[in-house]
Amino acid sequence: MRCLVFALIFTTACNREPEPVQPPSVGATAGGAAGGDVATGGGSSGGTGGGTADLAERAPKRWPALANPATHDVDVDLAAVLEAQSLAGACDAVKNGATDRPTRLRCGKWMFFYETFGTTGVPVPLLDFLQKHYGDSYYGRGFSRLGFIPDPASMKGMPLGLAPTTGKAGTVSTLAFTCASCHFGKMPDGRYAVGYGNLSLDYGKLLASLGAPLTLSSNASDPKVHLQLRQELAAPVAAAKMQSSYQIDLGIAGLQLLGAGMGGQLTVDEQGRFLALRTGTMDFMTKPLVEDHVWTVSRIMSLWNLPDAERRTSAGMPHEMLSWNGGVDTLESFLAGFVTYGQSQVEWSPARLSPLADYVRSLRAPATLALLEADEVKEGARLFVGMGCLECHKGASGEGARVFTFDELGTDATYATIYNPGPDGKSPVGDFFVTRGVKAPRMAGLFSQTRFLHNGAVATLEELFCLSPRDPSRVEGQRSDGHGMTCQGLTELEKRRLITYLKSL
Ligand code: HEC
Ligand code: HEC
Repeated sequence: MRCLVFALIFTTACNREPEPVQPPSVGATAGGAAGGDVATGGGSSGGTGGGTADLAERAPKRWPALANPATHDVDVDLAAVLEAQSLAGACDAVKNGATDRPTRLRCGKWMFFYETFGTTGVPVPLLDFLQKHYGDSYYGRGFSRLGFIPDPASMKGMPLGLAPTTGKAGTVSTLAFTCASCHFGKMPDGRYAVGYGNLSLDYGKLLASLGAPLTLSSNASDPKVHLQLRQELAAPVAAAKMQSSYQIDLGIAGLQLLGAGMGGQLTVDEQGRFLALRTGTMDFMTKPLVEDHVWTVSRIMSLWNLPDAERRTSAGMPHEMLSWNGGVDTLESFLAGFVTYGQSQVEWSPARLSPLADYVRSLRAPATLALLEADEVKEGARLFVGMGCLECHKGASGEGARVFTFDELGTDATYATIYNPGPDGKSPVGDFFVTRGVKAPRMAGLFSQTRFLHNGAVATLEELFCLSPRDPSRVEGQRSDGHGMTCQGLTELEKRRLITYLKSL
């Protein structure tokens, strides 16, 4: 029977293990129960026959832990992850010719936390002022209420991920973003993890609010400040102004900031756009950085389990397919882009970037602490293959082998315009072609993720599988619909099993 059905589709498939079937029950033709039955071998739930066990074998699996890791990247103890003593001096050693892998990885980890590549960041006098007078009332110590992790080594309450840099705003010193601001954080289970997408980071609020306390100190109802910020900051500003040192500090900060120029000021509309961003999402191609003149929202990705050349080849990936649009061919070119768009004045050769690239490639997803029922995981793995998920998620961590169009996914398509490609597909902000599509991301450490899809609009796996409602907001670029293959054509039991499986990766 099975042979016959397959024979109708693939003339050669009869005497072999069924190929992953083109998903008849997912995507456009969602709901076709017959297709689902065929694909799962006619007995998806509860099936224990040998054939279905083989299906589970084909699903992506959790990667084994590294045998002798040179760095310690996941722990409830922040100091253990920062391992300051082990990292100190590693980059000097590399500069002086050390080539052994542990030293290079430790240098790469140091760079991940502290290297700014000479990019320009936020003026130091402003950060100091905000922390001193608004740390307790609004931003949190170390800007923790914006999702930053306070740097235990900072006396002034600065966070990890903002580091001293040679790039200045006018004549004023700045702290610039390092990889750690966005790709390091505290997972919901309490462990700190390097490579974790910091989905608590309120990048939008930080950028929108930076100058607001100063402006509001002289006029509490200044219309140049977005209404939301005026309301949120009314009490903190009033309280700060009661302190005796405040006016003096304000004057000093104001004077120092004169040298920074006013170029970074955002209009009220721009503040509103930033304020509407969900945490863990951003438009990174807009002022104060390089501006592509389109508003696109993307979610911070985790950096775990980047596939090596062998894994990419066996999955059929054309290259490293980095970024949500899958258009960046190597990590090295991704890093070069970060340096360029951060408007660095410093030349960074691939050799100088390579310890960081090696370190990022060494990062592995931590395992969940939750106890998952092994049988449920296996049933979920079978479904993943049987229901056609593997068609698009066939990489070593479930990443896709090609870029998909937004029509195929039904997710918010605004991101297709990132880098503002012209009719020839070429971006005006750099010498490259834009894919206008979206990749299927790696699915490693999903148990720790609090945002899903490229724009972060879906908050849980339950929402992704339509077991609980998604955010109905229709904000452009941030709509939560799409990826119907996890909603239609699956029973509730199948969805729960798929979720359990996904959390095991
Ligand atoms: C201000 C936040 C921020 C900082 C700082 C940052 N990233 Fe990212 N990163 C992102 C976002 C957002 C994305 C997704 C962007 C996209 O593709 O649209 C991303 C994507 C990536 C990707 C692509 C992953 C994939 O699977 O496609 C890599 C690799 C990466 N970042 C590495 C780094 C490294 C290394 C650093 C430090 C040099 C860094 N990032 C600094 C926010 C940040
Ligand atoms: C047509 C190709 C396709 C099929 C079929 C498909 N996916 Fe996806 N999947 C994608 C793409 C592309 C994305 C990213 C879409 C976006 O962000 O807009 C994605 C995103 C996801 C995500 C979110 C990952 C993250 O970090 O945000 C999960 C989980 C997922 N898919 C699971 C599944 C499961 C389970 C199935 C089968 C029931 C499935 N997918 C079927 C292409 C597909």
